[in-house]
Amino acid sequence: MDRHKVKRQRLDRICEGIRPPIVNGPMPARPLVALLDGRDCTVEMPILKDVATVAFCDAQSTQEIHEKVLNEAVGALMYHTITLSRQDLEKFKALRVIVRIGSGYDNVDIKSAAELGIAVCNIPSSSVEETADSTLCHILNLYRRVTWLHQALREGNRASSVEQIREVAGGAVRIRGETLGIIGLGRVGQAVALRAKSFGFNVIFYDPYLPDGVERSLGLQRVGTLQDLLMHSDCITLHCSLNEHNHHLINDFTIKQMRQGCFLVNTARGGLVDEKALAQALKEGRIRGTALDVHESEPFSFAQGPLKDAPNVICTPHTAWYSEQASIESREDAAKEIRRAITAQWSNIDPATVHPELNGAAAYRFPPGVVGVANPGLTESPVVEGIVAHGIPPVSHSAPRTPSPGETSKLDADREIPADQ
Ligand SMILES: NC(=O)c1ccc[n+]([C@@H]2O[C@H](COP(=O)([O-])OP(=O)(O)OC[C@H]3O[C@@H](n4cnc5c(N)ncnc54)[C@H](O)[C@@H]3O)[C@@H](O)[C@H]2O)c1
Repeated sequence: MDRHKVKRQRLDRICEGIRPPIVNGPMPARPLVALLDGRDCTVEMPILKDVATVAFCDAQSTQEIHEKVLNEAVGALMYHTITLSRQDLEKFKALRVIVRIGSGYDNVDIKSAAELGIAVCNIPSSSVEETADSTLCHILNLYRRVTWLHQALREGNRASSVEQIREVAGGAVRIRGETLGIIGLGRVGQAVALRAKSFGFNVIFYDPYLPDGVERSLGLQRVGTLQDLLMHSDCITLHCSLNEHNHHLINDFTIKQMRQGCFLVNTARGGLVDEKALAQALKEGRIRGTALDVHESEPFSFAQGPLKDAPNVICTPHTAWYSEQASIESREDAAKEIRRAITAQWSNIDPATVHPELNGAAAYRFPPGVVGVANPGLTESPVVEGIVAHGIPPVSHSAPRTPSPGETSKLDADREIPADQ
């Protein structure tokens, strides 16, 4: 297997298509790459500076992205805080490749991107361990009540007698022998399963898209339906990707199939859970406690949304993936992907046309205060221009639909696409 193929497999990207060559003009000698929803390009710059001009947009929607980027950017780097619908993608006139710095790509309409000839890649590996570790923190927290005990102490509770300890720590449960139900046994789901086993959980999983026998490789128990998993789990943890078939997978109907008083953890995607139904189940005690890193509406605020007055909720702000190491690794990998796309596409550039000074702000002359452009000639603090204005709300996600956990055809089709994945 050649080197490029191995590398492509390692990064597990989703490439759905490449725009055909532009017939009525040459490629720009120095392509423009834009970081859409961030402003720090210090990791990306050293990797890209000799092949591209790097701009940052710090945008939350395409309405905030400068025209120059919309017209000229051939590569885009993005986190999960901006959404690219078909309408958004159509605004980019020269875009050939998008790299999601992270795992989930539900914020990009990849089918439309394919139709428009834009390759979409993700970087799924860097945060697998962090996300699994954070998930275990949430699970252990629900069982051992660390956050709530800490809160009780903060509120002045001394808990000196056994009776007081019983009262303050009431609800703490022994883990050994409990059944943990994992929905979606991909990279993170598997890492959670391995960790949970060592705590004494009996681990079961539901993932209809995995081949037969994976349960034996990992020593786990597989269940054939979502209902089986819901009925047999004491704690349910979500690790499936969000797609058009599983929006609100956890809803009033599926919650009613869960064991009375079970726990629910979600570090996958907020759209998987109907928060209104979850809040109601928490209030009625049908769900004993929940820990959520991801939310239907992000950035999450306790003050808004149906969970604001629900009991036994622990929330973190979509940070399960984060560690300094994971963040740097994923940015490096993403920049290398863009570089690979650019150098493969434009390998026949005449180097004489690429003058080192024709780069960054000097070359593109962005209006000051609109978009930042990194100058590769600077090794320290390479970002030399200003920032876009804010105030436009993020693009909203698609409307809820009736969940159909058994549906498989569309996702199966997705999974067959990438020779590149
Ligand atoms: N909170 C964070 O910071 C963070 C970090 C990393 C990943 N994530 C999210 O975690 C999830 C898992 O990431 P991953 O890298 O393990 O993805 P992955 O693609 O490796 O695994 C996802 C698994 O879910 C399965 N699946 C899809 N739909 C399903 C359904 N309806 N029912 C059961 N299984 C289903 C797939 O077959 C696949 O095996 C993704 O949603 C990702 O976006 C969140």
